Amino acid sequence: FFQAVASPPSSNFLLLGPSGAGKTAFTTLLEAKSSPASKKSQSTHTSQQSTLVTVSLPPDVPTASNRYRSVNDPSLKEAARNPIKYRVRDTPGHGKLRVSQGLSELQAMAQSKDIKTRLRGVVFMVDTAALVDEATLRDTATYLHDVLLVLQKRAKNGSSSKRTTEIPVLVAANKQDLFTALPPGSVKEKLEAEIDRIRKSKNKGLLDASADSTLDDDEEILGNDDLESFSFKLLEHEVGVKVEVVGGAVKGDQQEEYGSGVRRWEEWIGMCL
Ligand code: GTP
Ligand code: MG
Repeated sequence: FFQAVASPPSSNFLLLGPSGAGKTAFTTLLEAKSSPASKKSQSTHTSQQSTLVTVSLPPDVPTASNRYRSVNDPSLKEAARNPIKYRVRDTPGHGKLRVSQGLSELQAMAQSKDIKTRLRGVVFMVDTAALVDEATLRDTATYLHDVLLVLQKRAKNGSSSKRTTEIPVLVAANKQDLFTALPPGSVKEKLEAEIDRIRKSKNKGLLDASADSTLDDDEEILGNDDLESFSFKLLEHEVGVKVEVVGGAVKGDQQEEYGSGVRRWEEWIGMCL
């Protein structure tokens, strides 16, 4: 009756998002939580290289396979002794490094058929206090648009017979501890509206280009080509790629009031395992 809880060998998650969003701070926190003994420096600086870390899921965070487990379940004790591990790839968010690192790693991981490098999910982190700035919003939405387009292309190229599982995206609405932070609901609205604008101007560009007959066949529009406004719901409905916006704070972890720190992001990760 006591089943061994086999941890998936290497479930990979990719951490994307603009510079300063808190990706490295999140990675560092996950590492510290996974091995409390290790003394990691808490200070972060702009990343220039991707890093891969292996961390463990807190034993009381449910996974997709054990979500109906009760708190008295003996397998919980087993999980505490043998926690489920997963890997997180922290990428640099700087605009000049995105295409060469974050986006190309996403492309490579999304195409991989190797079970060992299979991508379970993308965590796209945003600084919710910085989004009131128009330029930051535009930059953030452009990056997210490009990420979703990669996932859409993957979804559309997958043969319908084989049914590839779509890679879900968590928009981690970070820095909810700051009083200037936008709540997750309005982060979602702002990103959807801005992506809609980006999509429309791209569509118009394509139409203008097709008049010159220099249209690149490979160009694709996110969501559908209709005039309907973009929303994450539409993307899920049309393409099957799920996007969820969940608030939290790396700094406020352990503090209930800040969207429960990173707990709800770990719960999202658990549901992908
Ligand atoms: P790049 O490596 O440049 O892509 O940035 P990054 O996303 O890795 O950001 P980083 O983790 O370096 O964090 C940027 C700054 O935000 C640091 O000063 C962090 O301490 C701070 N920070 C991260 N999370 C939070 C949070 O939840 N609340 C607050 N107030 N500050 C945070
Ligand atoms: Mg970093």
